Amino acid sequence: MTDQIPAGPLTTEAGAPVADNQHSQVAGVGGPVLIQDQHLIEKLAHFNRERIPERVVHARGAGAYGTFTVTADVTPYTRAAFLSEIGRETEVFLRFSTVAGNLGAADAVRDPRGFALKFYTEEGNYDLVGNNTPVFFVKDAIKFPDFIHTQKRDPYTGSQEPDNVWDFWGLSPESTHQVTWLFGDRGIPASYRHMNGYGSHTYQWTNAAGEAFWVKYHFKTDQGIRNLTADEAAVLAGQDPDSHQRDLRTSIENGDFPSWTVQVQIMPVADAPTYRFNPFDLTKVWPHADYPPIEIGRLELNRNPRNVFAEVEQSIFSPHHFVPGIGPSPDNMLQGRLFAYGDAHRYRVGINADQLPVNRPHAAEARTHGRDGHAYDGRHGGAKNYEPNSFGGPAQTDQPLWAATAVSGLTGDHPAPAHAEDDDYRQAGALYRLMSEDERERLIANLAGSIAQVSRDDIAERAIENFRRADEDYGKRLQAAVQALRG
Ligand code: HEM
Repeated sequence: MTDQIPAGPLTTEAGAPVADNQHSQVAGVGGPVLIQDQHLIEKLAHFNRERIPERVVHARGAGAYGTFTVTADVTPYTRAAFLSEIGRETEVFLRFSTVAGNLGAADAVRDPRGFALKFYTEEGNYDLVGNNTPVFFVKDAIKFPDFIHTQKRDPYTGSQEPDNVWDFWGLSPESTHQVTWLFGDRGIPASYRHMNGYGSHTYQWTNAAGEAFWVKYHFKTDQGIRNLTADEAAVLAGQDPDSHQRDLRTSIENGDFPSWTVQVQIMPVADAPTYRFNPFDLTKVWPHADYPPIEIGRLELNRNPRNVFAEVEQSIFSPHHFVPGIGPSPDNMLQGRLFAYGDAHRYRVGINADQLPVNRPHAAEARTHGRDGHAYDGRHGGAKNYEPNSFGGPAQTDQPLWAATAVSGLTGDHPAPAHAEDDDYRQAGALYRLMSEDERERLIANLAGSIAQVSRDDIAERAIENFRRADEDYGKRLQAAVQALRG
């Protein structure tokens, strides 16, 4: 990186020359420091304000720019302009992350990885804020803060506590599928380049005729899946806490651009009510035999950010950033996320976060009547800031972005409608049975190593019971392994 501030006098923030950047102004030789030293005061004050609040989850991450290229005709399913023809290219920014660790945490840990993708489309920015896992731990947004509290630092000990983690998972059997995934081989990717990404939720696509489809996104790594064992990760996390971040940056610097093959599973809306699983349940996958993934594009990362704070730390991604032809599904987790991210950004980066270079539309223009607030850059000049007005300016399109969804019944705290094969264990058991014997051994060892640290027998036993319900052999082996470790 060769960026340099042009040579010439060092200045204050207001552009006045600085006479001395080595010594504070003092009252005589050996005397106390003077408040008239504007440069000193400004320098200390700016330094004190260098940090903004870190993300409450996914604080630790790295990002890069790149290109998404369409490789198949998806116009029968969506009218999104950036997907409208084969060969069409769209600039993207992708931020990878771990979930539980704080800003300075090590990369090589057992944790899901965030896969947050911003498409700078000509119809505005489209954000797909997913993970490297096709499923999640809970299925209703109301459980998310409790879940994350168990992953973060305990209010008394100040550390992550196995008691809290396994207490919550044991009492939330819907997590069994994702926990099996997390403690399996893919739970610690070797790098951000060697893992898949998933949109995870079900989303809605709408075509030009207004016909709707339910869609799941998959990003299959072209580098191949590579993982670390628990022992390898423990060493790497200590030796090189920035391992994932460094790997991504240096591979792009070396012209070794990572890429992903993009696929979608598409479900006709008429299938949803009678599908064997609730298609909007984030703890479940749609088995590929039911809805085979179709290849639709290629994602390549080819440009590093020039300034990590400006472009990675201040980047914002919102599941509610949709474009015409793409919309939400009734997934209760997704619905909660449609609120949570914009709210987090207003707190973390401020009300004008959307105007920062990494966040603003690159291929479209934001034309709003929103104004002012912290760090407003005055881009609207003296233009009218209300609508309707008699002076021209932007106007509504009267074109809904996506198709309406049918609703019925009474409002209330209802559980999701039951589908024929909906339970919390079936897909976890299927995942266990899909693993080779070697993989199962590592899975059991990883789980047992963690559960054995729990201080209360009832919490450990309840957690093991969920795995037994997923598969008798799974539970039996886990129980024996935990017992062996606990003595
Ligand atoms: C209702 C459940 C959830 C809530 C309330 C929630 C909330 C949040 C919040 C507040 C942030 C920090 C945003 C910021 O400060 O910029 C965040 C980040 C993130 N979340 Fe979630 N989250 C939820 C579920 C999920 C799920 C299911 C996924 C993936 C499938 C996910 C993926 C991410 C990613 C990738 C980031 C980091 C985005 C970035 O790189 O800036 N979250 N989440």
